[in-house]
Amino acid sequence: MAVPSPIVAGNWKMNGLKQSFEQIDAVSSFLSSKTKPTCRVLICPPFTLLNQFASLASDDLAIGAQDCHFNASGAHTGDISADMIADTGATFVIVGHSERRADHGESNELVSGKAVAAQSAGLNAIICIGETEDERDAGDTLSIVIGQLEGSVPASANASNTVVAYEPVWGIGTGRTPTIGDVATVHAAIRSALIKRFGEQGSTVPILYGGSVKPSNADELMHVENVDGALVGGASLKATDFDGIIDAYRK
Ligand code: 13P
Repeated sequence: MAVPSPIVAGNWKMNGLKQSFEQIDAVSSFLSSKTKPTCRVLICPPFTLLNQFASLASDDLAIGAQDCHFNASGAHTGDISADMIADTGATFVIVGHSERRADHGESNELVSGKAVAAQSAGLNAIICIGETEDERDAGDTLSIVIGQLEGSVPASANASNTVVAYEPVWGIGTGRTPTIGDVATVHAAIRSALIKRFGEQGSTVPILYGGSVKPSNADELMHVENVDGALVGGASLKATDFDGIIDAYRK
């Protein structure tokens, strides 16, 4: 039976200037000089660096964006379409990150529309879901996460155009992570829901964990059942830290 292909992805968020090219250059060097990892490696810089970074895309290193519009083109000042992202040579786009859901009021329906646009442009959509601390404290983690999954993952999803990222909101940038048992429970529930909806395809959609992943906890988190990689924020900004996370896939 096919298994999900793991991915270690860096989400640079609103960080990075031209000089940050040296970090991605260093990531590339680690990838070409060290043992080849058993995961795919992806970096998602801000739009301003996408074109430049996409020039470094290779079989070892993919480049992605952090958001796209749900339309292919048109009168949407300040927005970027999935076709524009694909045009740079990027192959992934993150949609529905909790920071966009919170800062821009993005709904599941909008996120699903963005995922469809990404897939139509030939991009792989990384669809983010995750509960807030209040929702967790109320015991609603699974119902929130599965509700977001059902609402944000479009019917067109399959194992080659979709990645799901579980990122508990309270674990993002806080240094706090759920217990290994809790990560296993949530990822198992996501896997079951994907299989129920998409059958065999659902068993090979990668499910990434995100939220305070760093070199010191990556190995343990990446070996939890149904965890098929990481979506990394802060620790992806420095090549040495990011490479330390990729090390979880070098053994
Ligand atoms: P941190 O790794 O900084 O907690 O961010 C996680 C995240 O939001 C990645 O998308």
